[in-house]
Amino acid sequence: VKKMASNVYTSPALTFELLARCSTTRARASNLILPHGPVQLPMFMPVATQASLKGLTPEQLEETNCQLCLNNTYHLGLKPGQEVLDTIGGAHKLQGWNRNILTDSGGFQMVSLLKLATITEEGVRFLSPHDGSPMLLTPEHSMSLQNSIGSDIMMQLDDVLVTTSPDHERMRLAMERSVRWLDRCIAAHANPDRQNLFCIIQGGLDLEMRRECCREMVARDTPGIAIGGLSGGEAKEEFCKVVEACTALLPDLRPRYVMGIGFPEDLVVSVALGADMFDCVWPTRTARFGAAITRHGVYNMRNAKYARDFGTIEEGCGCKCCRPKSEGGLGVTRAFIHHNASKETVSAHLLTIHNVWYQLNLMREVRESILADRFPEYIKEFFGNLYADPK
Ligand code: GUN
Ligand code: ZN
Repeated sequence: VKKMASNVYTSPALTFELLARCSTTRARASNLILPHGPVQLPMFMPVATQASLKGLTPEQLEETNCQLCLNNTYHLGLKPGQEVLDTIGGAHKLQGWNRNILTDSGGFQMVSLLKLATITEEGVRFLSPHDGSPMLLTPEHSMSLQNSIGSDIMMQLDDVLVTTSPDHERMRLAMERSVRWLDRCIAAHANPDRQNLFCIIQGGLDLEMRRECCREMVARDTPGIAIGGLSGGEAKEEFCKVVEACTALLPDLRPRYVMGIGFPEDLVVSVALGADMFDCVWPTRTARFGAAITRHGVYNMRNAKYARDFGTIEEGCGCKCCRPKSEGGLGVTRAFIHHNASKETVSAHLLTIHNVWYQLNLMREVRESILADRFPEYIKEFFGNLYADPK
């Protein structure tokens, strides 16, 4: 572990302190101080699309030790809408959450959810899913909504291509447009002293285009930097090459956020490539389908073999659900989860708590291993457990 001379970056609404770097990979451990408190990086951020993690109360989310969760501008802008958000004083008050919130700008969700969205230089056009009326999300409107939400980290509106089709010209247009839209977002941002605006690197799987985008985005000097366009099911090798190419050009003293990824193995690999923050709906969504994430892989709790299994979901897990009663937990058995997994929502809630805990704890272990200069050993252990015979 190398100690660094200048290791702190400060901007009006964010402080980033680099604590340690792995000596053989690009992994870093750092602290990020945001308006609603400090967070430890690397970290995974669960997604609370509608200002709640489906099935969890804000208190239960706090209990998972989550310090930063995602909300979505697109969903909150439609319901409860900007007027309600302004009246109540933002999304923290709406959901009774005093910790940090990051909002995605909305365009990505519209393009991926609504096949009818079309993108022009002005913004993203789509038909309201409520009444079918035509709507337009511009960089200015997205910023205005995110200012009303009051998120601690706001994302720029970007031109995202959800198809992996290698239309080079269209990809270049999207990358360059994302840079122009960042400029419009910066100009429209009403609260730069209280809310952080992050840029998003685009450019598909073309490494030269990615590098060009990095140079343009970095020149705009936002307090944090995201790598987008990577949750589309591209090959792992291509994914790694893109993250690697980007982190090589990004300044050390900024948090780096790879958007939309959440498989444990992808998180660990991305940390090794120099990324700090991640989000994905998968851990919470898969919980609702009866899947438990563990260090030995993902278990389908609906499988009949769990009907008479009186162990906890994962032995030694510190989550509320798995911890024994004697330690303030619920000591829930696999048999109980299995029994409820198809029809009762309680099992979805318990699995959500477990899965979010798993992801946060994974990042905590990764961080501790970087701080102790044993991250390479941690990676070996992690993949050893993952691909060992299931217990
Ligand atoms: N979520 C996952 N990928 C992306 C992306 O490229 N842009 C935005 N705005 N959100 C995302
Ligand atoms: Zn657990």
